[in-house]
Amino acid sequence: MTDPLGPQGRRVIPVALAGRSYEVVIGRALLSEIGPRFAGLKPAAKAAVVADPTVARHYGPMVLDSLAVAGVKASLIEVPSGEGAKSFDGLEALCDALLAAKVERRDGVIALGGGVVGDLAGLAAGLIKRGVDFIQAPTTLLAQVDSSVGGKTAIDTRAGKNLVGLFHQPRLVLADLDTLTTLPPREVRAGLAEVVKYGLIGDAPFFAWCTREARALNTLSPSALSHAVGVSVAAKAAIVAADETEMGQRALLNLGHTFGHAIELLSGMDGSVLHGEAVAIGMGLAFDVSVALDLCPAPDAHAVRAGLAQLGLPLAVPEPVRRQGVDAFLAAMAQDKKNEAGRLTLILARGIGQAFVIKDAPVDKVAAHLQLSVFGTHPL
Ligand code: NAD
Ligand code: GLY
Repeated sequence: MTDPLGPQGRRVIPVALAGRSYEVVIGRALLSEIGPRFAGLKPAAKAAVVADPTVARHYGPMVLDSLAVAGVKASLIEVPSGEGAKSFDGLEALCDALLAAKVERRDGVIALGGGVVGDLAGLAAGLIKRGVDFIQAPTTLLAQVDSSVGGKTAIDTRAGKNLVGLFHQPRLVLADLDTLTTLPPREVRAGLAEVVKYGLIGDAPFFAWCTREARALNTLSPSALSHAVGVSVAAKAAIVAADETEMGQRALLNLGHTFGHAIELLSGMDGSVLHGEAVAIGMGLAFDVSVALDLCPAPDAHAVRAGLAQLGLPLAVPEPVRRQGVDAFLAAMAQDKKNEAGRLTLILARGIGQAFVIKDAPVDKVAAHLQLSVFGTHPL
């Protein structure tokens, strides 16, 4: 395959939003350019770089050096690793640290890390001083293909995932593919769930490509990786530009997420099930439910499960979640932000690449299917 990034080794994908358009730059060695890019966007501003300890160790010095060479005064603020950081306590600590670093309205926050840091730092940036600019520098595959693009920021609460948050669009997204070389294989696989999601939503040939290239993707083959990130970001940018605040089609990006968020919530949101893993299990369930409701041909659901397995993703609802029973699972699904007037909204599919939103899903039938296939004594 020729290099999908082209001769410049860069692909720039615009996210077109009235008055707040920005670019997603995909390429290699991008973190070493973050200083001049920040200074170009925000002349004479200070930068507060937010990262967890692992990412700070790997990439903090490179980012701080680049900022220093560009004449940008910068501080590094560490936040704890893992989903637990997306909490009221975590948000309070980060806002306090940003204020202690004397971040002013004209300054900028750089979210350097995975989706946890992006969601938390983006929310803190949206709140302090009633909103300061931020840049996303995603360092996980999941963050590069999904969470860094589109401006959703949030923390979790006892009631569920991402329930307190803001739309706060970044000024720039720098997706440096080189950072993925230090990512643990399990995190790579979790990111692949969000990659393959774009195929399942609306691009059947891309789904087929992902399953064919499963090995190349898992081993971070440069050409496979840049194609996968480019296609995913382009798909996401188009959906976000058409429906920034999820009044309609952006909800499709939540394929598998209503089931997945319930799995994360009932797992205690403790990292035992990664977000991408929960989404993979949830996408399998979404296709199975679609078959059970006579909306989708059974061979498509089989192909989805086979493809996810090929990519190394889990399919089974974890035993600690299964033990809590179908009622607890449905109650967790009921917390989803997409639900309206107590009715269950789901993203289902008429086939691979044909996802759609159903605003009033038949809860009884969904529950009966889940009871039979997941929560019964002998799940299918
Ligand atoms: P994460 O942010 O927890 O990162 C995973 C782990 O990888 C962390 O331990 C981190 O320290 C480590 N890590 C990150 N980059 C690394 C690197 N380059 N090398 C080595 N280690 C590295 O997990 P994630 O999967 O990136 O993000 C999951 C979060 O994203 C969830 O909270 C989810 O809700 C959120 N999310 C948000 C959106 C959105 O639109 N805002 C979309 C999808 C997911
Ligand atoms: N990850 C879902 C969205 O950005 O809408």
